[in-house]
Amino acid sequence: MSNSVKDESRRKLLTTTAYATAGVGAACAILPFIDSMNPSSDVAALASVEVDISNIKVGEEKKVMWRGKPVSVKRRSAEEIAAAKEVQLSELRDPQEDSVRVKSGKEEWLVTIQICTHLGCVPIGGQGEYKGWFCPCHGSQYDTSARIRKGPAPKNLEIPPYEFLSDTKIKIG
Ligand code: FES
Repeated sequence: MSNSVKDESRRKLLTTTAYATAGVGAACAILPFIDSMNPSSDVAALASVEVDISNIKVGEEKKVMWRGKPVSVKRRSAEEIAAAKEVQLSELRDPQEDSVRVKSGKEEWLVTIQICTHLGCVPIGGQGEYKGWFCPCHGSQYDTSARIRKGPAPKNLEIPPYEFLSDTKIKIG
């Protein structure tokens, strides 16, 4: 093999090695940045909240904070469930069956984000014409399924993502 062919082979080997090393170096440099983009365990913990519902009496609600928002976990009475069910969809501004706002087989429990869909005030439970929630800011009234019935708010109170971990505990978020 001539010297010029040997030099050419050596140059190629060195170039390939240099690129490979640079690639690994770049990957190592980027990893901490990618890692820093993952939520910290503190943030992840705030992303969901577990609520003990064992001490909520029938007809009462418990308010908790989830991602900076007030959330109500309401244990509805049989009368409140019946009132929510008997409403015709045609009467509703934001038509939704009660059954799609609760978990199947757990209709006693209604979980809602307590932010009025008008301008964001926090409604008061058990108040108003429909005995659901009443917003004191401009008079929006929600029923026992937290659906908007009167006043300026355009939408029902929002249902956050949640699941039952057991009969006495739910996880919101
Ligand atoms: S913010 Fe609730 S009615 Fe206006």
